[in-house]
Amino acid sequence: MVSCAKPVHENTVWSSSAIDETACVYYRRLNNQVLSNVKYAEIVSVLLRDFLTSTICRLRDASVPSPRLNAELLLMFTINCDRAYLHAHPERELTKEEVNGYNDALAERVRGVPTQYITGHQEFWGMDFVVSPAVLIPRPETEHLIETVLAYVGRAPLRLRSGQASPAKTLRIVDVGTGSGCIAIALAKELPNAEIHATDISASALEVAHANAARHQLENRIKFRHTDLLQGFESDSFDFVVSNPPYVGESEEDEVQMEVRKFEPRNAVFAGPTGLEVIERLIPQAQAALKPGAWLIIEISGTIAEEVKSLLSGWADVQIANDLQGIPRVVSARKPR
Ligand SMILES: C[S@@+](CC[C@H](N)C(=O)[O-])C[C@H]1O[C@@H](n2cnc3c(N)ncnc32)[C@H](O)[C@@H]1O
Repeated sequence: MVSCAKPVHENTVWSSSAIDETACVYYRRLNNQVLSNVKYAEIVSVLLRDFLTSTICRLRDASVPSPRLNAELLLMFTINCDRAYLHAHPERELTKEEVNGYNDALAERVRGVPTQYITGHQEFWGMDFVVSPAVLIPRPETEHLIETVLAYVGRAPLRLRSGQASPAKTLRIVDVGTGSGCIAIALAKELPNAEIHATDISASALEVAHANAARHQLENRIKFRHTDLLQGFESDSFDFVVSNPPYVGESEEDEVQMEVRKFEPRNAVFAGPTGLEVIERLIPQAQAALKPGAWLIIEISGTIAEEVKSLLSGWADVQIANDLQGIPRVVSARKPR
């Protein structure tokens, strides 16, 4: 990350402490002034601290969740700097271009566009991924899938099971519904000897996944395939089928955040009327593609956990792990030998 040029007072220490309502009144006025087509030249100066604070108030007024985090991320994106820079240079003056760029980004955010689609980036498993509206924004809870695979392979600090996985050099893994490629790419990084495949039904998602693999110099490690679930793969050939499939039911649509409903790809989020439709098709296909005794690992939600368990009734070692919020999140099961 490049550090921004021209700090005004390099040594100023500024703490972004809580902003009370009185301050917000002032900052709203400042924000309106900046936004109201007043020529930039007519504004005496726009200091980073003031504009950031006024933006937090503006986002809060617009009921944008985590207003401070969003205001900071969008300012970091606009002036291409890191968070430490924002906090170390509160008195830096913003240029006209920066003010305009920041306002454009904020207008998008206020309209509901997720910050990650504005900045084009999301972190997952400590790696930076490019994201576009063609792909689901990787979620932190999906990292549990990676942890689960690594635990079964025997490389994770917390072993969930022991002695049952194949050695890493022989592993064949497929990530079904790869989206941005975050799961396949994280696994390729963690398991340098594994052969990784990734599928998606969306050609535009696969383009983003390819780009991410290339950014991480892992494009030669992952074979991407444009297909429906596991169509076209050999039987009995994988050690792991891993997937974060669409699993939200259309009947639950009203409970889904507006930002997700309006801006994330529908076929990445919704599976059909009940939420089980994609998993119902994936389980038998995974059974065919897996070697005997090999693992199927799927991200799920609490809503469908019991139904998914029953769909896996003929499988061995079926277990469901919760995420950090205590919600059932990862189901794993072994194909019977
Ligand atoms: C919930 S997103 C997961 C994306 C990514 N793996 C992640 O965890 O962020 C589901 C993905 O599955 C893809 N998908 C939906 N139906 C599919 C199908 N029948 N076959 C293959 N991929 C599918 C979507 O295009 C989307 O990229």
